[in-house]
Amino acid sequence: MTGASVTRRETLAGLSALSLSACAGGAGPAVGASPSGAADGLHQIAQRKGLRFGSAIAYGAEGSDSGSIGNPAYRKVVERECGLIVPENEMKWQATRPGPDQYNFAAFDAIVRYAKSKGLDIRGHTLLWHRPKWMPAWVNNYDYGARPATEAARLVTSHIETVTRRYSGVIHSYDVVNELFDDQSGAFVDTSISTAMGSPEAVVDLAFHTARAELPDAELVYNDYMSWEPGMGNHRAAVLRLLEGFRKRGTPCDALGVQSHIEMRTIDRATGIGTHDLKEWRDFCDQVTGMGYRLLLTELDVKDNGLPADYAARDAGVAKYLTAYMEVMLSYPQLRDILAWGMVDKYSWLQGFAPRADGLPQRCCPYGDDFKPHPMRAALAELLASAPARA
Ligand code: G3I
Repeated sequence: MTGASVTRRETLAGLSALSLSACAGGAGPAVGASPSGAADGLHQIAQRKGLRFGSAIAYGAEGSDSGSIGNPAYRKVVERECGLIVPENEMKWQATRPGPDQYNFAAFDAIVRYAKSKGLDIRGHTLLWHRPKWMPAWVNNYDYGARPATEAARLVTSHIETVTRRYSGVIHSYDVVNELFDDQSGAFVDTSISTAMGSPEAVVDLAFHTARAELPDAELVYNDYMSWEPGMGNHRAAVLRLLEGFRKRGTPCDALGVQSHIEMRTIDRATGIGTHDLKEWRDFCDQVTGMGYRLLLTELDVKDNGLPADYAARDAGVAKYLTAYMEVMLSYPQLRDILAWGMVDKYSWLQGFAPRADGLPQRCCPYGDDFKPHPMRAALAELLASAPARA
């Protein structure tokens, strides 16, 4: 199956997703629309093609200098450009589950209130980030007692039921499970939960079945960062095996979240953009969609480590690389939602997690530190405007 083909089931599913978007996002929160559409926000442009555009946002107290609901300048960018948002950290176990039988939704609730007040839709990220590194310490040290599998299942089930019930009618698309694999070997990464249950597959299947039982109509997503850069072959193969296994076992997963933290480590001299395995990446996307999965770009940003220091050259390089990537992804009609992992450079996780060798900040987001758009924003507008329309 190629990126251009779409099944009737997917078309119908897409139509229902669109009507949901129209209810939740309405005409979009963009400001300053002109008759020519030149000043439209990215979500407004996307909507004309049956797409949606959004971003991650964090919690922050009013006035905080962060990519959060508390920063008026950041809010303005989000409200201009986005039709949906996703909490950057506030729905994770680390934030919401301080103990086995304790929950704290204060920060995420504030994000939900903000989204509702602006007519923005919300995605759920994530019901289970299956990595010891990103679990609360109490999970890693947990005593599962005499019946470990039963107790581990209780922890997972109670978490998913609690979250999905609390946001029932509010969140219609969830990253049910996030990042299961070692990206070099493609092997599953165990947690105390999967050790107690006997296998990672047992945990993942339980998570999806629990989410489906609670949310018969929601979009249930497996989310991961396999990508098109060289060296990602084992990671892509692992994700394909997982998705094949879901189909064989009847695990109710609807879509693959392609995080899209795309990266320019080295520059290809012929094209002037970051090296990437185009054929292998298309094969991967063809196989995923061929199994009937929809696609979402859940965490889009661009690591510019391989580009020179000069800002103008870097911004142009980022826009060019993003364009090459997005042209591939937008060719898949199964793709409808595109979310940036933050809108403004200085608040991006990449500044801390992937610093440049020259110590300069990454130019990784659609907007710069002065809250003015980068060429990346113009590239996104152009890509969305010229994208093939969804049914
Ligand atoms: O809020 C605390 C603060 O109180 C404390 O003083 C400070 C000290 O380190 O830490 C703050 O928490 C940090 C949190 O981000 C909020 O800024 C954590 O240390 C830090 O680990 C955490 O990083 C987040 C990371 O996920 C781990 O949860 C990043 O912001 C977030 O962008 C990143 O997002 C992930 C996606 O969820 C999954 N895909 C990959 C993506 C990027 O790593």
